[in-house]
Amino acid sequence: MSRATQPVPQLKRVTDVAPLRRLVREWRTDGAKIALVPTMGNLHEGHLSLVRQAREHATRVVVSVFVNPSQFGPGEDLEAYPRTPEQDRAALETVGTDALFLPSADTIYPFGVDEMTRVSVPGLSAVLCGASRPGHFDGVTTVVCRLFNIVQPDIAVFGQKDYQQLLIVRRMVADLHLPVRVLSAPVQREPDGLAMSSRNRYLDAASRAQAPGLHAALQETADALRAGRRDFAALEAEGAARLMAAGMRTDYFAVRRATDLGLPDAATGPLAVLAAAYCGPARLIDNVRVDV
Ligand code: PAF
Repeated sequence: MSRATQPVPQLKRVTDVAPLRRLVREWRTDGAKIALVPTMGNLHEGHLSLVRQAREHATRVVVSVFVNPSQFGPGEDLEAYPRTPEQDRAALETVGTDALFLPSADTIYPFGVDEMTRVSVPGLSAVLCGASRPGHFDGVTTVVCRLFNIVQPDIAVFGQKDYQQLLIVRRMVADLHLPVRVLSAPVQREPDGLAMSSRNRYLDAASRAQAPGLHAALQETADALRAGRRDFAALEAEGAARLMAAGMRTDYFAVRRATDLGLPDAATGPLAVLAAAYCGPARLIDNVRVDV
């Protein structure tokens, strides 16, 4: 029976490391290939697309929901971050998740966040979002490494919307020789182009109307690159001005090498146009890849 025609699995809810490891061990004994989709919950269609992709590549799918305190800076939205456990569970059942891992902060950080062993990817973690949110990516790599150790998946799926995060996780996996294959899934967008994100919940009516301007500005820059422009600094300044004209406050608007977020030269090679902007109360990020 192909995976697609198999009955939808019964979702198992697990909160501790030992029972999760037992479950994964049993599956492995039966020859299963295990996928992990790490999330912070408040699941939307973007997350569900990651689960669907995981199901295509694995026989068992674990989704973790953990609002990770170590990736939030002082004054960020840790307390306010939307938590919708019942809705998440129902959504995961519709896409056929095998296990929902819901650890507490004590389970993930048995010695507390202040004393946690850190995993840090220097360089890549310091630019763009890392420059605006110091320590953020250390929190991400620290928790993702722990989740990989706990679940021990064959595959993990991350969204391309968090493009810098995806590159950093890939670098960590390569550098630490972790036996996990990292797959990525395309950005899921609303019909007007706005990238799906849990933080879209913070948008009031006025800022929701402005928010598609972020993707529109990225697309215009991508089109200019595809048309042959290579005056990167001017393109970045124009992109930032477009965001401002759309009513947003630009954090950064950058044209970078898609492989390592380095500054591009005029030679061809895949590029990424990335931006972060404050739109009303929400800090939104988005990116467009340009294969030139
Ligand atoms: O992308 C996210 O939701 C988070 O950064 C992740 C990867 C689940 C780590 O907490």
